[in-house]
Amino acid sequence: MDIKRRILVTGGCGFIGVNFIRLVLQDYPDWRIINLDKLTYAGNLQNLKGIEENKQYRFVHADICDAEQMEQLFAAEQIDSVVHFAAESHVDRSITGPAEFIQTNIIGTFTLLEAARKAWLEDSWQGSDPRFLHVSTDEVYGSLGATGMFRETTPFDPRSPYSASKASSDHLVSAYFHTYGLPVVITNCSNNYGPYQFPEKLIPLVFHNSMTGKPLPIYGDGKYVRDWLYVKDHCEAIVEVLKKGKDGESYNIGGNNEKQNLEVVTTICDTLDEKIGLPASGEPRKNNIIFVKDRPGHDRRYAIDASFIKEQLGWEPKFSFDKGIENTVEWYLANQEWVASVVDGSYRDYYKKMYG
Ligand code: NAD
Ligand code: TYD
Repeated sequence: MDIKRRILVTGGCGFIGVNFIRLVLQDYPDWRIINLDKLTYAGNLQNLKGIEENKQYRFVHADICDAEQMEQLFAAEQIDSVVHFAAESHVDRSITGPAEFIQTNIIGTFTLLEAARKAWLEDSWQGSDPRFLHVSTDEVYGSLGATGMFRETTPFDPRSPYSASKASSDHLVSAYFHTYGLPVVITNCSNNYGPYQFPEKLIPLVFHNSMTGKPLPIYGDGKYVRDWLYVKDHCEAIVEVLKKGKDGESYNIGGNNEKQNLEVVTTICDTLDEKIGLPASGEPRKNNIIFVKDRPGHDRRYAIDASFIKEQLGWEPKFSFDKGIENTVEWYLANQEWVASVVDGSYRDYYKKMYG
């Protein structure tokens, strides 16, 4: 088969990366995917079970901070596209241990940019038009009050070590466009949810705790607002930006689903009560909500204005929050073994079984 794109997907064993790889291999059989992942606690090779046999797919166990390996891979695989997901992604972990965030999110992105610059701009590049797509977050814009929305022109104002490291990487990516003419695009999206999300983030954590009768911790007053984006919508947006985005541009991607955390948690509990009945206690699951100490520097509200990507590329989200949550709850119910293996750590054995 004539291969149309040779994509280096970084962090493809994480939540969004897995959903992206699955979507691309299904919809674009003439795109080759090299999935490069360090397999940190958030990387789960089991999420791509069955995909190893696909001839258009290769897994590489590596760290994006390894400059020599990145250079070799660009040359060996004639990489013409990068979709850069790899990152440390959890705000709470960035508060207790920021060093890994600086290393992977900043140094790692810099290392990849250098490898791309060398392959595409310094060596005699013979392949098709290359593109470096950097996946980032709306958290770089800081926190909103009761009104307003983040636009692509909103100044950066990151508040956590996580968002500061992502903002820093966005600036580097943008600088490589202006300074070297590296063909880059940046996407800044809101909070994703859906299948394969690690159960430390709010939605899968609440699912897991509700199923096991544990308390459901709400930080502060629970009135913090996030704009929830179903992961499939996000992955489709990334494909559109990869195909049709303009070099040097940033695109905000949102779900048009602003919700307070308390409402999100209640919706999950009510959906579970409805689908599988009340737990043995006979009490609605939402009775397990507890209010706990707030996260330091907790951003009050995020909201994305996604009109630019709609105007420019014709993308808009398809999933309402209710539909997305229903799909998500159904997926977690059907994949309770997956959740259990992540919680007890046995998901890590899969790598040893496959690769020794
Ligand atoms: P995740 O934490 O689930 O997965 C991250 C993946 O990156 C893991 O597979 C991990 O093993 C890998 N990784 C970490 N360090 C690495 C390194 N040094 N070298 C190679 N691989 C490494 O993250 P996610 O939720 O899938 O997020 C993906 C991207 O999207 C991140 O860049 C994140 O900042 C961004 N983002 C996520 C959300 C969200 O709601 N999840 C929202 C906005 C933006
Ligand atoms: P999270 O899923 O960690 O994503 P982010 O911090 O990137 O937005 O958290 C989503 C929201 O839920 C955020 O306002 C923090 C809050 N939250 C809780 O109230 N309790 C929890 O146990 C967690 C993990 C998050």
